[in-house]
Amino acid sequence: MTSPRHEFTVVSPGRVNLIGEHTDYNDGFVLPLAIDRGLRMDVCRRLDDRAVLSSDRGGPSVEIELGLPITAGRGDWGRYVAGVLAGYQRLGWAIPGFAARITADLPTGGGLSSSAALEAGIATVVETLCGRTVDPVAKALLCQRAEHEFAGVPCGIMDQFAVTLARHGHALFIDCRSREVAHVPLGTSIAVLVIDSGVKHALGDGGYAARRHECETAARLLARPALRDVSGMEWPSLAPTLPEPERRRARHVVTENDRVHAFAAAARAGDWPTAGRLMRKSHASLRDDFEVSCPELDRICDAVGRIAGVFGCRMTGGGFGGCAVALIDDSRASDVEAAARAACTTALGHEPDLFLTAAAAGTRVEVNA
Ligand code: GLA
Repeated sequence: MTSPRHEFTVVSPGRVNLIGEHTDYNDGFVLPLAIDRGLRMDVCRRLDDRAVLSSDRGGPSVEIELGLPITAGRGDWGRYVAGVLAGYQRLGWAIPGFAARITADLPTGGGLSSSAALEAGIATVVETLCGRTVDPVAKALLCQRAEHEFAGVPCGIMDQFAVTLARHGHALFIDCRSREVAHVPLGTSIAVLVIDSGVKHALGDGGYAARRHECETAARLLARPALRDVSGMEWPSLAPTLPEPERRRARHVVTENDRVHAFAAAARAGDWPTAGRLMRKSHASLRDDFEVSCPELDRICDAVGRIAGVFGCRMTGGGFGGCAVALIDDSRASDVEAAARAACTTALGHEPDLFLTAAAAGTRVEVNA
């Protein structure tokens, strides 16, 4: 049924978040970047009405009937695929049959948004096959809805926006309420190091939804639409009115929003020592107030943060495991990488997976000649 050679390839990156953690679903601010690792999808058309997808990670292939309304997906990653296809069906698009072979160089469950990369990749496959596109913001929201409704993960908009809208060499500042974005140039003097704690996280496990619920409770108790509407200036007078743990959760969000603005200003000024200090404070706040770090991430951030040439290191993503991100001096990148490998091996008792990366473009198509 499939032609022997694929017709086009979709490249869909993972992301790391530099700062602004657990702020997106509080209508706040975030500053992620897409990385030069992610998923590749080699696609060819089929003559029937089926989507057939396989992954180099093994497991059974995913088969979806496109001629019928898609209401649910099977298997771990099949749910994300089904959710995106259903989103385009809802728009009234007739999706032609296709086969996709997916290869990945991104740790799954490592907090680098392998799921958003999959969703945005499938969305781009559909748009390429149909020869038309939706607005990129609508595309990111369609992917987020797929994750909510088909995978049961109540995520914010950061990952899908980062993966869809990122630009090479830039971080993406997102106002998660207005959905306005700004591309913040990172220059060439810094590099990004990602360190996998090896602790697998799953956002569907309940901790993420619990934090989201606590933040909503805090906003309700403060009679604000969202924690975004509490400023750092007024926080000291409002804090005593909240019970625990809502007080600590809210303190993280309020202070983290301020840190995102301060980080973006420092990045624009090339003031990396200040940006690094803000990352350290962000990690401490996630560890102590938001309680989404884990001992392995704390040890990594502590060990890597001491290495000369590292401006700052923090956990990145939803937490409860996953990866840490370090902002480092590009001219010392290979020395820092070697030192970080040694320091983390001592701190963890095993050699971690770590890699240098750079700010990459969002999901894109490569047409084969
Ligand atoms: C996950 C979610 C995002 C965001 C982060 C925490 O990655 O998918 O929407 O909430 O956690 O900042």
